[in-house]
Amino acid sequence: MVQVMTHAHDSGQGHAHDGGHGHGHGHGHSDGKGADFAGAAELLDLDAEVFSGYLADVVALAAAAVPSDRPLRVADLGCGSGTGTLALLERLPEAHVTALDVAVPLLNGLAARAALRGSADRLVTRVADLDAGWPDDLTDLDLVWASTSLHHVADPPARLADVRSALAPGGALVLVEIDDVGPFQPTFLADDGLETRIWEVVRADLARAMPYHGADWGRVLADAGFTIATDRLFDIRLAPPLPESVSRLAVMSVQRLMEWFASGTADRLRPQDAAALAELAGDGPGSVVHRELAPRALRHVWVARPRGLSQGEIDGPERASRT
Ligand SMILES: C[S@@+](CC[C@H](N)C(=O)[O-])C[C@H]1O[C@@H](n2cnc3c(N)ncnc32)[C@H](O)[C@@H]1O
Repeated sequence: MVQVMTHAHDSGQGHAHDGGHGHGHGHGHSDGKGADFAGAAELLDLDAEVFSGYLADVVALAAAAVPSDRPLRVADLGCGSGTGTLALLERLPEAHVTALDVAVPLLNGLAARAALRGSADRLVTRVADLDAGWPDDLTDLDLVWASTSLHHVADPPARLADVRSALAPGGALVLVEIDDVGPFQPTFLADDGLETRIWEVVRADLARAMPYHGADWGRVLADAGFTIATDRLFDIRLAPPLPESVSRLAVMSVQRLMEWFASGTADRLRPQDAAALAELAGDGPGSVVHRELAPRALRHVWVARPRGLSQGEIDGPERASRT
């Protein structure tokens, strides 16, 4: 059973730090670069599958934000294995999507999946390192979609300025990032004391490796010249009966955490926590799969438009839940 709660915020109200996709995706190396994701398709897909409850809602927000009078030009920045790309291709049947990523294997996998779904003729996959700049010919866009990718990029304000220039009149940016409310997300353990302590250590590393990880994106967007039309926090919690994919994702996530610590920070974990983590990552009776799992992820979504080109309405206070 999946429960998604959404909370709307006033413009500019941000959250100090996100956790994020973090531990699952790319934290195993210090620079957070896309190359870290080259072999991460399974992890990204599992994450998307387990926490899928919110994606249709976000794609619907995107569909409502774009012009309806012309075939759409869409770009997916840091598309990864393409969960968002494929959802957009399906929801916007007239759209042509350019999916950019620095990880070639992920792009190849996405192209293959799009072909299987019959939407390859509307998709261009493109190798691009957004640390190096913006592709000159990526202009006149009706929608730019950036899901949990921008915090990996070296200079998000510069890329947001590029997005602003590349959007056609009436176009919109949909930005998804991951909030840190309590421990880093996603979390799995019902008794989260251990996870909370571990994430505190990871958080300090991330602050150095990826300064925009958990940034106040509402403020970053405003500073980059955007008006925020929608600001919504999705709090995704799964309750029993849990699908089998949850156990696999929990194991992969804990293993990814072990890699993170193996890359140099393990000595900063309390010895008993390091031992507990190793036990969770293993396949013995202490494995995470035998624990009571309570998966939770927070995704923060903004729909934004270049300031001065259009008027956006900020969503009013809202709280909704779906089970
Ligand atoms: C957490 S994944 C998100 C993937 C996908 N958008 C999703 O929501 O599942 C971040 C993605 O950003 C990509 N990325 C990181 N740094 C990048 C860069 N400098 N240029 C292009 N893509 C980058 C990674 O390769 C990875 O696929």
